[in-house]
Amino acid sequence: MGLLEKQVAIVTGAGQGLGKTIALEFAQEGAAVALLEINAETVKAVEAEIRASGGEARAYPLDITDYDAYAAAVADLLSWKGKIDVLVHNAGIALYGTILEDNLESWRRVVAVNLEAVYMGSKLVAPHMVEKRYGRIITISSIAGFASRGRVGSYNATKGAVIAFTKSMAVELGQYNILVNAIAPGFLITPMLEEDGLTVSEEFQDWYIGRGKIPLRRGGYPEDVAGTAVFLASSYCRYMTGQVLVVDGGLTSTF
Ligand SMILES: NC(=O)c1ccc[n+]([C@@H]2O[C@H](COP(=O)([O-])OP(=O)(O)OC[C@H]3O[C@@H](n4cnc5c(N)ncnc54)[C@H](O)[C@@H]3O)[C@@H](O)[C@H]2O)c1
Repeated sequence: MGLLEKQVAIVTGAGQGLGKTIALEFAQEGAAVALLEINAETVKAVEAEIRASGGEARAYPLDITDYDAYAAAVADLLSWKGKIDVLVHNAGIALYGTILEDNLESWRRVVAVNLEAVYMGSKLVAPHMVEKRYGRIITISSIAGFASRGRVGSYNATKGAVIAFTKSMAVELGQYNILVNAIAPGFLITPMLEEDGLTVSEEFQDWYIGRGKIPLRRGGYPEDVAGTAVFLASSYCRYMTGQVLVVDGGLTSTF
């Protein structure tokens, strides 16, 4: 352990699901973690959990699409720790509906959270990484970035765009020793997917598990993915940038 000793990391959407698990594992590996999260209650609880186990964390209850609030959190973190080594763009939302059912308002909200805030957060943090000639930016895309089940067009669009933007940042920031990589998880059993109802459906049990559309024959857990983020943030990852690591139990390797 101690893979992230002396590292300072931001994790967005750290109140539950994948973001919470990444924050806990980063802290366990020795990183000080800034928890950016819209839900003040859950983020305070995660902060308390990390501190109780001897880790360092600071909760920032905010909406990542509020750029003044995001900038203030970055400034506070810099005055606390003096640097930011790792930025994990994890917060994301899915609003369901086909193109015949959804509307521009929901499209814009999904784009604001899943894509625009990735741009703004990177824009706020990258200059400080450039100054130190060190940084790791990790985006959380999805297998929905290159395939679709329908009903989440805005989500699919943002997750695909995040992959393209990850590559673009990797090209631009490589000269400053800033590595930018994406993780594309498959179906994770988190509140996000529970809301959709898929993982508890008959279809999931039959097709994805029973008939092996997911070769590993189970849904994923945040713990199955958080280690990939630890790897990308650690010194074991040093000659890889602009890549997408698919963590989906083999789902996208089958047809
Ligand atoms: N669950 C899956 O199957 C799955 C699959 C692939 C990718 N992902 C991606 O993984 C990431 C985490 O997903 P999850 O399943 O843990 O979701 P989740 O809904 O369980 O957790 C997301 C967290 O982000 C927070 N959040 C949402 N909007 C915010 C905002 N505007 N500002 C600050 N915080 C905000 C939520 O309050 C929540 O705590 C997302 O980017 C998601 O798209 C999830």
